[in-house]
Amino acid sequence: MIMLKSKREIGLMHDAGKLLAECHREIKEKIRPGITTLEIDEFVEAFLKKHGATPEQKGYKGYEFATCASLNDEICHGFPRKKPLEEGDIVTIDMVVNLKGGLADSAWTYGVGQLSDKASRLLEITKTALYKSIEQATVGNRLGDIGHAIQTYVEGEGHSVVRDFTGHGIGKTIHEDPAIFHFGLPGKGLRLKEGMVITIEPMVNVGTWQCKMDDNSWTARTRDGELSAQYEHTIAITADGPLILTEQ
Ligand code: MF3
Ligand code: CO
Repeated sequence: MIMLKSKREIGLMHDAGKLLAECHREIKEKIRPGITTLEIDEFVEAFLKKHGATPEQKGYKGYEFATCASLNDEICHGFPRKKPLEEGDIVTIDMVVNLKGGLADSAWTYGVGQLSDKASRLLEITKTALYKSIEQATVGNRLGDIGHAIQTYVEGEGHSVVRDFTGHGIGKTIHEDPAIFHFGLPGKGLRLKEGMVITIEPMVNVGTWQCKMDDNSWTARTRDGELSAQYEHTIAITADGPLILTEQ
């Protein structure tokens, strides 16, 4: 069931989203060779606590960390760990913030030090795909318009879109209806309504879109071992157009 949100609820989610965006900006300053993703995870938890917020992912379906930290060929749901990041790595930090009951979800992929042309191009393409799709998140458009915007752009650049993970509605819990596919046909699928709040979170691969699961049953990585990146925003569908809740 799709739960439409009031202006008040969207306001609360926006407050959570602004804090999340600030947290990402702090992480950006901290990312460098030598830091571990476990240190970043600890920083996030302390930062949220300091601002009266909590990491909604911790304890969600038994997940043990405040963040997901997905390195290089990991697509999503990587565990923070003690291994220091190395020059040239890319790492996606994904988190859900709960501030006074308002939730917001956003992931960024960070480059560590100097990146290869391949890696920096992947990051650029993934971020551009997200913003192109957000333009389609308007009242009366359909979910297929969002997925199509991502797929045509990404595939046109010779990259691939992960099929096994989707965006989602978000509200009182992290995952609500509907599922937001990052591929699809224009004019098809559910019509967007004012008051819907969704995440769009394309995962883009350099090689094949196919993935395999780690033994921990959380972490997905690319089947061919190639790089994967992801950018995610939480977006409210409003009469005035898409409102990005996790930017500022
Ligand atoms: N932000 C992640 C997503 O949208 C949340 C993952 S749930 C967790 O899929 F338990 F892994 F944190
Ligand atoms: Co999400």
